[in-house]
This record gives sequence, C-alpha cells and structure tokens, in this order.
Amino acid sequence: MALLQTSRLTLRELSEDDAPLLSAVLNDPDFIRNVGDRGVRTDEDARRYIIDGPMAMYQTHNFGMYKVELADGTAIGLCGLVKRDGLDDVDIGFAFLPDYRKQGYAQEAAEAVMEYGRDVIGLERIIAIAHPDNESSIRLLEKLGLQVERTIKLPREDEELVLMAWNAGD
Ligand SMILES: CC(C)(COP(=O)(O)OP(=O)(O)OC[C@H]1O[C@@H](n2cnc3c(N)ncnc32)[C@H](O)[C@@H]1OP(=O)(O)O)[C@@H](O)C(=O)NCCC(=O)NCCS
Repeated sequence: MALLQTSRLTLRELSEDDAPLLSAVLNDPDFIRNVGDRGVRTDEDARRYIIDGPMAMYQTHNFGMYKVELADGTAIGLCGLVKRDGLDDVDIGFAFLPDYRKQGYAQEAAEAVMEYGRDVIGLERIIAIAHPDNESSIRLLEKLGLQVERTIKLPREDEELVLMAWNAGD
C-alpha cells in the first residue's frame, strides 16, 4: 500500500522483501562516508536490519524510514522520519542510489515526508544531522526549511556533526 504519493514518486513502508535495496543503499560508499557503516553486508543482515529498525519503528512510533519508488516500481532510495537513541527530536533522513541523484527525487520525497511529519504525525519540530562536508544534504535540508542550529556529537562517535532543525512557526 502506498503511504505517500508525489508527482513522480511513491513512498511505501519497507518489508523484508526490500533487503536487496537496503544492502545497496547501506553499502554505497557515499552513505558509509556521510552517514556511517551499519555493518550490513549480506541480504540476511539487511533483512534483520529492516525487521529490527524500520519495521519496529512503524509499530512504536507510527513513522519510520520508507522506500522510494519510481512510477514503474524501481526502488531508488530511502526517505523517512527516524527516532534515534540519544536524541529527543525526530529526524528526517534520506539516502538515494547514485544513479538517482541530482534529479530532484530526494527533494520531492523529502518534501512529502516533511508534510507527513507536520500534518499527519503532528510534529512541531523536525531535525536532521549531517556531516559538515555533506553539501548536497545540507543544501537539500535548507530547501526543506531546516536551519543550522549547532554542532553535536552523537553517543559513541567522535566526529562533530551539524544539527539542523525546522520548528513550527519558523
Ligand atoms: C543527500 C542526497 C540524498 C542528496 O541527493 P540529491 O539528488 O543531490 O538531492 P535533490 O533531490 O535535492 O537534487 C538536487 C539536485 O538535482 C537537480 N535537479 C534536477 N532536476 C530537478 C528537479 N526536477 N527538482 C529539483 N532539483 C532538480 C538540482 O538542480 C540539484 O542539483 P545541484 O545539487 O547540482 O544543485 C544524496 O546525495 C545521497 O543519497 N547521499 C548519500 C546518503 C546521504 O548522504 N544522506 C544524507 C545524510 S544526512
């Protein structure tokens, strides 16, 4: 079932069948450099990751990371809302396969997710955390209405990251 529909894209909840997509996205070198190494190597690792991560989050929070598809059903990336350990706020995240970048797909999906977070989930604040040198991500977050607030270090990590936020009323 489609969760969100935009002019070119459909967003759906992830299922165990999406293990190949997750393996491709999580092992993309840009993802590993900008977001981190999730240690997912095999389709079985990816299946477990989907069950323990996104699928568990749909149950506990009513939102999570979604699969993004073109009209012909090709899966091109991930975009959604995530509640991370160690952060009070909900954050928006996105990661697209290299062949599907620079075409505005990430922006189109992320705009739909922001609207969903605001209007359906009722969030009054949505944040994002990015590497300071992840320019395409920071540019996209600015287009979505998030502004740089401060730098942050996540638990068990030593790199300084940028915390960006959108607040209701901004
Ligand atoms: C971050 C990421 C999702 C950004 O993807 P993206 O495709 O650059 O983002 P957008 O969808 O906003 O596309 C913007 C580009 O498409 C171009 N574009 C082409 N057609 C477009 C259209 N119809 N609408 C909007 N932009 C369009 C824009 O001009 C822009 O180009 P520019 O970056 O040279 O200015 C992608 O780089 C990625 O997956 N990286 C790896 C994972 C990652 O870093 N995630 C973020 C962690 S915080």
